Amino acid sequence: MKNKSTMRAVAIDEFGGIEKMKPRDLPVPEVANDEILVRVDTAGVGVWDPFEREGGFAKEYGMKANFPHVLGTDGAGTVEEVGNEVQNLKRGDRVYGINLMSPKGGFYAEYTVIKANNAAMIPRALSTRNAGVLAVDGVTALDGLDKTLQLKAGESILILGASGGVGHLAVQLAKRMKARVLAVASGRDGVEFVKGLGADKVIDGHREDILKAAHEFAQKGLDAALLLAGGKAAEQAVAALREGGRAAYPNGVQDVPQTRDGVKIMSYNGEPDPQTFAKLNELIDGGPFEVHIAKTFKLEDAAEAQQALNDHYIGKLALVLS
Ligand SMILES: NC(=O)c1ccc[n+]([C@@H]2O[C@H](COP(=O)([O-])OP(=O)(O)OC[C@H]3O[C@@H](n4cnc5c(N)ncnc54)[C@H](OP(=O)(O)O)[C@@H]3O)[C@@H](O)[C@H]2O)c1
Repeated sequence: MKNKSTMRAVAIDEFGGIEKMKPRDLPVPEVANDEILVRVDTAGVGVWDPFEREGGFAKEYGMKANFPHVLGTDGAGTVEEVGNEVQNLKRGDRVYGINLMSPKGGFYAEYTVIKANNAAMIPRALSTRNAGVLAVDGVTALDGLDKTLQLKAGESILILGASGGVGHLAVQLAKRMKARVLAVASGRDGVEFVKGLGADKVIDGHREDILKAAHEFAQKGLDAALLLAGGKAAEQAVAALREGGRAAYPNGVQDVPQTRDGVKIMSYNGEPDPQTFAKLNELIDGGPFEVHIAKTFKLEDAAEAQQALNDHYIGKLALVLS
């Protein structure tokens, strides 16, 4: 049983700008049969969180928000209570998960209720803190490499945005899938960071020639590209694909390249389900794995954290609740 009836949270009373975000006390949500109540340790602050705050997801998915709406789409913590039908998780388990536009609210709170299928045990190798920024980015990285690109051992792949939230996980997962990885990172700090993640070659996409680097890396052209940023760099990545090559980008990437003859460009969404979480955990537990938090903020400073999404940083931002 939960031991509190109210909780600290950051919520909005209507969709809009950053000024709508307010710390307040709200009732702890109740669990239904297929849900778990999580005492939140860490909440991810995703580049898509402002889109949630502005009502973008509600519009896109035709959802009606239940105001006050608690923000925050992913995070990690400890299971406090489980619904009657939940088999895979129990009280006290360390879990991470995804909570997109739930009427019961998201992760910017001391407690959140999520569907048990949208959560999983934290991989043994990770702390609860670091797992707090894993769920959306990890599922999106794996769905891109595995379900969408169907990356195979020995193939060459360019990962654009390799020092970002999804990208730094995708680099490590692609290496675990035994691909050859050309990582295109941001800035000198991004390049240094990604070199430590085991990429075969790392370049700075803001300063170096992507086409030239790709040609040196795979002379017959690249087999695949995962695009976590758009614009000219993404165009160059697509231009570097071999005949029959394929590129994928998660919806949300801006200025995506036009398709060209002989290659396939696919958009996708990261979709949580027990099989994807199981595969992600298995790959992560295959050796040391870095889930990087650039900076943490207190729950009450969630608006400042969303503001900081506009800065250059490596990995992901997070709110810490404990
Ligand atoms: N549909 C879905 O299911 C889903 C799920 C998750 C994410 N997404 C989308 O996927 C995208 C990536 O998400 P994320 O969390 O990884 O965001 P992120 O952390 O901002 O990562 C993007 C990275 O690309 C870098 N970058 C931009 N231009 C570059 C260039 N020319 N060369 C090298 N690096 C470059 C950025 O660095 P600088 O800012 O320093 O340039 C940043 O590190 C976002 O658009 C997000 O909305 C979609």
